[in-house]
Formats: sequence, structure tokens, C-alpha cells
Amino acid sequence: MMNVEQLQECIGHLTRIGVALTSEHDLDKLLDLIVTEVREFTHADAGSLYIREGDRLRFAASQNKTLGMGIGPQPADAPSFRNLYIPINMQSLAGYVCETGQVLNLVDAYQIPADSPYQFNRGFDQKTGYRTQSMLLVPMRNQQQKVLGVIQLINSTSKDGTVVPFDKDMESLVVCIASQAAVSLDNAQLTKAIKEAHLDTIYRLAIAAEYRDEDTALHLKRMSNYSQIIARHYGMSEERAELVLYASPMHDVGKLGIPDAILLKPGRLTAIEREIMQTHTSIGAKILSGSQSELLEVSRIIALTHHEKFDGTGYPLGLEAEDIPIEGRIVALADVFDALTSRRCYKPAYELEKVMTMIRGDRGKHFDPGVFDAFDKGFQEILDVYNKYRE
Ligand code: C2E
Ligand code: SIN
Ligand code: SIN
Ligand code: FE
Repeated sequence: MMNVEQLQECIGHLTRIGVALTSEHDLDKLLDLIVTEVREFTHADAGSLYIREGDRLRFAASQNKTLGMGIGPQPADAPSFRNLYIPINMQSLAGYVCETGQVLNLVDAYQIPADSPYQFNRGFDQKTGYRTQSMLLVPMRNQQQKVLGVIQLINSTSKDGTVVPFDKDMESLVVCIASQAAVSLDNAQLTKAIKEAHLDTIYRLAIAAEYRDEDTALHLKRMSNYSQIIARHYGMSEERAELVLYASPMHDVGKLGIPDAILLKPGRLTAIEREIMQTHTSIGAKILSGSQSELLEVSRIIALTHHEKFDGTGYPLGLEAEDIPIEGRIVALADVFDALTSRRCYKPAYELEKVMTMIRGDRGKHFDPGVFDAFDKGFQEILDVYNKYRE
């Protein structure tokens, strides 16, 4: 049985796990956190988490203290086991636990009888020189009792550093935590699915609004991704930068209200046509106004202000510098960078070098210098997006 000190430590861990599980909505971070907490809780040297995806298990998080894997900041070339798949069958311990829903508590993985229904794969040990000994594998059951994944813990270590079997008292607690984790996982997966459906809907709406423009879908993907990259490097929080990613595709919905004869005109616009064209900002803002949704409110601000210029010579309001909302200043650069590097009905695509000269020349004029510098910092990522979503 546990003594008072152990019990206190245990309650401390459980409380932290509970709070973390309910507050973390980012899936990968959540999985790492589950492994960290359960590993520390059971004094395990290593821990992994597998998620069921169809008829396979995905190796979704992995930590090994002795090998220094998956704990703390990782070198860029660190071997990653994340996203490896294994089939769900009796060939692996995790597969067995997933299939049967049973807990496995093994004193030594190398001493499994040959006639047992499950077997330990020594592949990882052979590759790394690690010696797996005691193991605890528990199913992650959600409220419907469906096994969503498996938590695998390796080498419970006593205070003097020797490997010991996993405590029986611990076992049932880990089963409880795993179920709690399964419910959080359900929620995080649902949140992710909703976000993806949401983003897809936004893209489709935006494409519908601009369907007369060719290549709009790719333009929206590129420029929303550019906007997110700039936002991050500008120092925005991950959440705020994500909001920019979701809100920016709607920046030109106002083009819905522009006649084809102007929007699709092959050559330069006349002064009057240009004036009409410029109303796409306020038309867009009108379409997006009056919503309780933060996303739509940011979309509205972006639609209204993405053609403002830092020096005050933009439209529709002629706002200057910090009077232009930061999201508008960010999207202004992402939008122009994409317009210049792409072919339009009225212009050819320009070479990257020429584009860089053009926009650098506009630092502090059209573009917020801080935003330009953030673009500069994230330039490698910008190029990755540019190449990924090329016409
Ligand atoms: P867009 O094609 O998506 O262009 C977005 C912004 O990129 C433009 O905003 C402008 O700031 C920049 N940009 C695009 N091409 C060039 C270029 O060749 N040189 C420079 N220096 N900047 C460029 P802008 O000018 O307010 O235009 C807004 C929208 O109006 C454009 O969106 C496009 O749909 C339309 N538009 C602008 N000029 C023309 C034109 O001459 N002919 C036609 N048919 N449409 C135009
Ligand atoms: C153009 O005038 O052809 C492109 C738009 C701009 O330079 O403002
Ligand atoms: C940042 O703060 O990370 C970038 C902004 C800048 O370089 O001005
Ligand atoms: Fe625009």
C-alpha cells in the first residue's frame, strides 16, 4: 500500500492531469502531456501513446528518459516515431491491448511465454540498445467503452534506479487516467474535425464569392497560410495566429458585388472602374458585419482594412500606421506578395526576385515595417507554402 507521502504525490499528479486534460485542446500537445504525466506518475522511464485510426494504431507520442527522446526541446534531426502505424493484431502488445481491451502488466517483456497470445517486438531495443523490462499497457476507453488508444509504460524505476514491476495499486489508477484521457481525446478530435470542416466551409464560401476569378482556391490557401506565418513571427500567440489563418480567406468576399466587366477586365482599370473595384473592401465588411462570432468579426476587419497602407495612402479610409488593425496590416502584405507572384487576368506572374525588390521598396510605405520584418523572419516557411500550393 502507499504511504501518506506517496498518496499526496499521487493526488498532486492526478489533479494536474485532470486540469491539463480539460484545458488542452491541441491534440499533439495533449497527447505529449498525457504521456508525461502518466510516466511521471508511475515513475516509468519511457512511455508511448497509440491512437486507433481505422484498423491501425498510430504511434502518436513517445518519450524515453534514458535515450533522451521526446522530452524537452528536441534537436531538429531527432528521430521521430510520431505517425508510424502498426496493424491492430496480436503481433504487438499494443495491438493486443487495443483488440482485447485488457490491461497488461509485465514484469519482464523478455520473459513472455512462447505460447502466450501476445508477443513483444524487440525491434526498437535492437535498434537503440535499450533494454525494455517491466511494462504496463492500458486501454484508453471513452464513455462508450470504445478503445480509442493504448498507453504503454516501460521500466518503472525505484528511487535507487533499479527497474521494478509496475505497482498493482497504480495499475487501476492508470486505467482511470487513461479513460479520462480518452474523453479528452474524443473532445480534441472533435474540435479538430469541427475546425477542419469550418475552414473547408470558409474556403468554399470564399471561392463561391470569387468563383469568377481563376485560381482563387490556391490563392486563398497561400495567402491565408502566409498570413498565419507572418502573424506568428510578428509575435502573436498561436491562437491569435490561427484566428488570422481562419479569418483571412474572406478578405475579398466583397468582390461578389463587383461587375464581371470590371473584375475580369484583361487590361488596366480606368479611374472610375478602379473606384468601383475599391468598394470590394466596404462591401465585404458589410457582408461580414453584425456577427457575434469572433472569427467573423476579425474577417470583417480584414475585409475592410486589407488595402489600407502604412503611410496612409490606402483605401477605403486612408488609415495610417497603428490605426490600421494589425490583422489588416498582415493580410495586406500576404495579399500583395501573392498577387505579385501570381498571374492575374490583368498581369503576368513576376519573378520572386523582382517581387522581393518591389515589396522591400514598400517597407514603411505600403507595409508596416514590423510586419515586413516578420515576413522576412518567416521567409523559409513562406517559400514552403509558395511551392506547396503552386498553380
Ligand atoms: P488582386 O489582383 O488580388 O491584387 C491585390 C493587390 O496586390 C492590389 O491591390 C495591389 O496592391 C497589389 N498588386 C497586384 N498587382 C500589382 C502590380 O502589378 N503592381 C503592383 N505594384 N501591385 C500590384 P489593388 O491595386 O487595390 O487592387 C485590388 C484588386 O483590384 C486586385 O486584386 C484586382 O482584383 C483588381 N485590380 C487592380 N488593378 C487592376 C487592373 O489593372 N485590372 C483589373 N482587371 N483588375 C485590377
Ligand atoms: C495595376 O495597376 O495594374 C496593379 C494594381 C496596382 O498597381 O495598384
Ligand atoms: C517579432 O517581434 O517577432 C517580429 C517583429 C519585428 O521583427 O519587428
Ligand atoms: Fe482585396
